[in-house]
Amino acid sequence: MIQPPEHIKSIKPYVPGKPVEELERELGISDPVKLASNENPAGPSPMAIKALRKGVADLNRYPDGDCYYLRDALAVRLGINGNELIFGNGSNEIIELAVRTFMGPGDEAVMAHPSFVVYSMIVQAVKGKNIIVPLKNAKHDLDAMASAITDRTRIIFIANPNNPTGTINTAAEMDAFMKRVPDDVLVVVDEAYYEYVSSPEYADSMKYFRQERDILILRTFSKIYGLSGLRIGYGISKAGIVSEMNRIRQPFNVNSLAQRAALAALDDRKHIERSRGINERGKKYIYKGLKSLGISFVPTEANFVFMTFENDIAAELYEELLKQGVIIRPMGPRAIRVTIGLARRENKRFIEALRGVWEARGRNFLS
Ligand SMILES: Cc1ncc(COP(=O)(O)O)c(C=O)c1O
Repeated sequence: MIQPPEHIKSIKPYVPGKPVEELERELGISDPVKLASNENPAGPSPMAIKALRKGVADLNRYPDGDCYYLRDALAVRLGINGNELIFGNGSNEIIELAVRTFMGPGDEAVMAHPSFVVYSMIVQAVKGKNIIVPLKNAKHDLDAMASAITDRTRIIFIANPNNPTGTINTAAEMDAFMKRVPDDVLVVVDEAYYEYVSSPEYADSMKYFRQERDILILRTFSKIYGLSGLRIGYGISKAGIVSEMNRIRQPFNVNSLAQRAALAALDDRKHIERSRGINERGKKYIYKGLKSLGISFVPTEANFVFMTFENDIAAELYEELLKQGVIIRPMGPRAIRVTIGLARRENKRFIEALRGVWEARGRNFLS
């Protein structure tokens, strides 16, 4: 069989969170809860659902390749020009477009670890070089990332908030960092969880956009808007950068239902507020549960919580929770990430399952 070149062969495929249906099939567990992919447990925006119903009758038509109405609405909301926006099949596609547009073999991208794994996979796919800078106190070490810039650096990825730790970089940290970044290096600030952030210290990345820096800000409809299944996200950048990326964008990369739903969801303040409320209350409940078990966690600005352990127990913990119908995400040997879910149905199930495992196995785990 035909074989890919080595730089493709060495990519480890992305492992998504286990789908609920698979757990039902494999372990015969009814009513499992999925807290593995940072989805919105409140469901999609009801206004989006209504818009979708109307949109199905037009499915014989190709979508509007320009996302005209959504572009217009977002441009007004953000106070920018329409040509400073790019839409993607999820923000994932925009990460891919940025890398494929601006990087070639041997070029470098600086990124943190652990952070969103897709960055390194795509860089590898274009034969680029990943320059990995470990997190410091669970946050992007922006000082070290700036020091990692070389003549070959093309892109720097900053997930703010970071996935999987839920931490943010502050305005002061970003200011100091941006001063050290050369003009022709693209800073990708991935704000997939932007709408969940409550810290007043959160960096306003739009400020650097207004200063006409080479920055690409990524947002998505997959998280608080509850539209992961439709795949739609957007990027904000200067018109020149957007037009370079448009060279390689597929003409109909964002489907028509996604465009309609996103446009409706954008105005659904009630759904957004409700989702934020569920997250804030869930966060407090999970913190309390973890504290009562003596489990270390990182305070989050997103819709998930990162927990760390002193021993290599993440894989075992994942399996034990799975048996009880709770799907979480192991993150290396000593950490797990759990999405904040609905109070009773999900968060309580998670804490109770964890308590059960902890009480039964705690001593073994810790020995
Ligand atoms: C930091 C980060 N960026 C981007 C994405 C991708 O989101 P989308 O569904 O818009 O492709 C995710 C999804 O989990 C994420 O955690």
